[in-house]
Amino acid sequence: MTATEPDAHYALRLSPDELERYRFMAQRARVQEADLWELAGLRAGARVVDVGCGPGAMLLALAECVGPHGAVAGVDGDPEAVATARSVLAGAGIHRAGVRQGRADATGLPAGSYDVAVLRHVLAHNGGAEQRIVSHLASLVRPGGHVYLLDVDASAAGIDPSSPDIEDMTERYARWHAERGNDVRVGRRLATLARSAGLEVDAFRGWFDIQPLPVGVRGPAWAARDAMVASGIADAGDVARWGAAAAAMDDRSERPEIMIAVFAAVAHRPAS
Ligand SMILES: C[S@@+](CC[C@H](N)C(=O)[O-])C[C@H]1O[C@@H](n2cnc3c(N)ncnc32)[C@H](O)[C@@H]1O
Repeated sequence: MTATEPDAHYALRLSPDELERYRFMAQRARVQEADLWELAGLRAGARVVDVGCGPGAMLLALAECVGPHGAVAGVDGDPEAVATARSVLAGAGIHRAGVRQGRADATGLPAGSYDVAVLRHVLAHNGGAEQRIVSHLASLVRPGGHVYLLDVDASAAGIDPSSPDIEDMTERYARWHAERGNDVRVGRRLATLARSAGLEVDAFRGWFDIQPLPVGVRGPAWAARDAMVASGIADAGDVARWGAAAAAMDDRSERPEIMIAVFAAVAHRPAS
């Protein structure tokens, strides 16, 4: 893959429900991780790069956090995500954030020029390249600057009440990742990855994020349905069943609870 090619392994299709999911995650992150953001230096005036920024929901939260005297750069391998992120930022009237297409392990951005480099929900899609990516982020921050890593242990995710079709979709999605060599439990390894990149770990935390599933929000397995069909792990009939099961979830008056095991590591580059 060259710096301008989309990431060939990333398979979550952007759609209105997927964009809603990103907005939802970004809103929760600011609240749940407020102390970790502060520890990492995510505050007014900071220069921040968000690698694997996706469609821009997190960039928006970061731009609000650093304020008019800070700066935010976004990088993503998917041209559709880059275009969406640009329009989300423009729509919000934010012009202090630039978004470019690039690889997570070779962004092409100048080394040592950021206060904070952020990487959220990217490593689980990059089996075998995890260390290369974290080491690249470490190179982007100035001495004393921070790297903020966040990812999940998807093997511990769930929904309650569930249904056989939702469980089937989730199980096949896990198998699809495994076949690609992706580590869906990578969240557990964030501190080790940071240390191996020459960083000093300031905090390493994990928690269960449990919340009612908003109507209309699907999950990453649903967003990967086309890729699963293309790989032969599922067919159109499976997708129809899963879609019906997700719609049935929307009809429940009592919202199902989704639960996700999330991990975050804040680490800094030694001053010398
Ligand atoms: C699950 S989304 C997370 C988006 C955002 N970080 C967030 O938390 O809202 C992962 C994003 O990382 C991008 N991505 C994954 N692997 C990448 C790679 N190797 N190089 C560049 N972008 C990558 C995908 O295109 C996708 O937009």
